[in-house]
Amino acid sequence: MSADLKFDYKALAKEFGTPFYIYDFDMIKERFLRLKTAFKARKSQIFYAMKANSNLSLLSLLKELDSGFDCVSIGEVKRALQVGTKPYKIIFSGVGKSELELKQALEYDILYINLESEAEMYVLENVAKKLDIKARISIRVNPNVDAKTHPYISTGLNVNKFGVAFDLARKMYLYAHKSEFLEPVGIHFHIGSQLLDISPIHEASTLVAKLVRELKALNIELKFFDIGGGLGVSYEGESEPDLYAYAQGVLGSLSGLDLTIALEPGRFLVARAGELVSSVLYEKITPSKRFIITDAAMNDLLRPSLYNAYHEIVLPYNEGEKSPCDVVGGICESGDFFAKDRLLEQSKNGDILVIKNAGAYGFSMSSNYNTRPKVCELAKFKDKNDKTQIKLIRKRQSFETLVQDELECLKEG
Ligand code: LLP
Repeated sequence: MSADLKFDYKALAKEFGTPFYIYDFDMIKERFLRLKTAFKARKSQIFYAMKANSNLSLLSLLKELDSGFDCVSIGEVKRALQVGTKPYKIIFSGVGKSELELKQALEYDILYINLESEAEMYVLENVAKKLDIKARISIRVNPNVDAKTHPYISTGLNVNKFGVAFDLARKMYLYAHKSEFLEPVGIHFHIGSQLLDISPIHEASTLVAKLVRELKALNIELKFFDIGGGLGVSYEGESEPDLYAYAQGVLGSLSGLDLTIALEPGRFLVARAGELVSSVLYEKITPSKRFIITDAAMNDLLRPSLYNAYHEIVLPYNEGEKSPCDVVGGICESGDFFAKDRLLEQSKNGDILVIKNAGAYGFSMSSNYNTRPKVCELAKFKDKNDKTQIKLIRKRQSFETLVQDELECLKEG
């Protein structure tokens, strides 16, 4: 399969150098609106999980579409605020928020904080007490439902570090309800990522809704039913979950309850819209293998190395017979690969190689390993005249900025 040449990779490579990420903003918009429409029968709010891709221009695009943001560090909260998001469109999740992060989140007056442990609740209560305010909270329940996804991104089982079991959640809600400094407003679950079969989400939803009803009987009225993210996308031609069925299943579990559904999609909105574009450096034949060595490496896209994740790879300008090869980066680790035994055409130095479906957890998980600068990011979108535009949305990192913080210390002696 060859890449559809929606734009001229060669020209972009010439102008911006390689490797670079490029995102199709129109596709992100389309997927956002499709998801929003699926839930329109009910009060709902999308809080994009920006851990998937937190580029400010991308956040700005989503903010304009009325998205809120699910953040997992105070840095992410600041990113949301940076693009002009109203605090009531920001929620804060994560199993290890520090006291300082909790304090800042309260000062920013964000919509609510998703608590993940009893200990965190007491710390938050104390912080709120010092500020003399009531902290709006939601509790992440771990429903002990098997999401049947990769173990590293499965989060809804009791063996996982996330959330609290039902009994503890009940106890925490009762405590928070009585506290002068806590106000329970929501309930949350997120059982895993890249779910192609969404029935575990519905199973979890039914279990969590049962707790909401119990709490209601105890006069604890929640407003938000936060179903997390987790929607899977097609990496290898799999069919993606039916959004209408997804919505119906959740709505079905909430009959008789007046709740706003909060969604935290990450991957679904951005994964398919992104590509990592690289250049071939060398082809290398060993006695047992053919390798394509690219100028992108595991520090730019970690998913294959970390999860053995599949990403479609194309040599958009190459023709001829395909043969098996490993596509690898230049980092000094055998784990630095993008694909193993993939069928690809012959290539040579300078050929463009595109790694597809890399918009989620690509750039955001990238690092400076081997003192490799972070790559640049581009956005592609149609303007009012239906003409494709390309915009630089992050400059390639320079060596100077990469070492800046160290250099200052070095100079201070
Ligand atoms: N909400 C919470 C609480 C989460 O932990 C996550 C993802 C999301 C929402 C968004 O999930 P999504 O809609 O993207 O599935 N690095 C991994 C994925 C890690 C997901 C972590 N949590 C990967 O590259 O596959």
